[in-house]
Amino acid sequence: MLQQFDPRNQNIIVYVAGELVHRDQAKVSVFDSVVQGGDAVWEGLRVYDGRILSLDTHLERLQNSAHTLAFKDVPDNDFIRKAIFDTLHANEMYDGVHIRLTLTRGRKTTSGMDPRLNIYGPTLIVLAEWKPPVYPPSITLVTSSMRRNNPMFLDSKIHHNNLLNNILAKIEANHAGADAGIMLDKDGFVAEANGVNLFFTKNGEVHTPFAKACLPGITRKTIIDLCRNHHIPVFEGDYSISEFYTADEVFTTGTMGEITKVHAIDGRTIRGSKSESTLAKLVGLFSNYTLQKGTPIPTKKQNDASR
Ligand SMILES: Cc1ncc(COP(=O)(O)O)c(C=O)c1O
Repeated sequence: MLQQFDPRNQNIIVYVAGELVHRDQAKVSVFDSVVQGGDAVWEGLRVYDGRILSLDTHLERLQNSAHTLAFKDVPDNDFIRKAIFDTLHANEMYDGVHIRLTLTRGRKTTSGMDPRLNIYGPTLIVLAEWKPPVYPPSITLVTSSMRRNNPMFLDSKIHHNNLLNNILAKIEANHAGADAGIMLDKDGFVAEANGVNLFFTKNGEVHTPFAKACLPGITRKTIIDLCRNHHIPVFEGDYSISEFYTADEVFTTGTMGEITKVHAIDGRTIRGSKSESTLAKLVGLFSNYTLQKGTPIPTKKQNDASR
């Protein structure tokens, strides 16, 4: 499904390297590392009713990704939090918002790969857009020929901007008329879809691939924790595509799309649960979670006073 353009995003204000500017002026230098080599890390976050869900967990993953890539002079979490809150206040955005937070290695003195050319410090970008979580009732997937990175090549635990194999998987899905492409790992087990994690249910049990080749998604972790807290059996494992074809229910998870039901994979219909739907139960639990948890957005006055 192609996301529709929301006219409210026509005049949004974006935070780029310390400045809040209209989207038409929101630019990075041609010398920036993200232009030179996709050398950047990022997070997608969601705002629910005045709160940012899992903010600290997202900041921890951003910091871990930047540290693993040996970024220098990374802004601390207080600084990043303030940049996010400044951006939300500038746009008066308090609900139904998706934030794309990007941290690049920064500008280089000249084009090139060497991080020693990065003498100016990282570039922080906060792009908040109106994107309420409205998705189709269910989606279709196809298995892509693109394999997902694993630690043998590029550790999937780094949430980096080198998304080309995921983009190629998405192109295959587009050509097949499907909503997303399933990426297998180097051994042929299911890793994830091109931008979301995958789960299936079977006889009341919930299963998801090990976080070896997939991004250890924050929504994935939330679902696992919700299962554990509500006595729903949940397992991580190496699963083949056949186990997804023959599951009772299949769903994807991610900050952008929350939990989305999958109704067919590679032309095989997912037959559905014969008894109580575990997926419906998880959708209810997740929906409650989004309304109860999250970091409240401080008032403008509190935020302005915080530095
Ligand atoms: C490749 C990939 N898998 C899964 C996810 C879902 O992760 P999360 O639940 O943390 O949004 C994302 C989101 O950025 C992603 O890029």
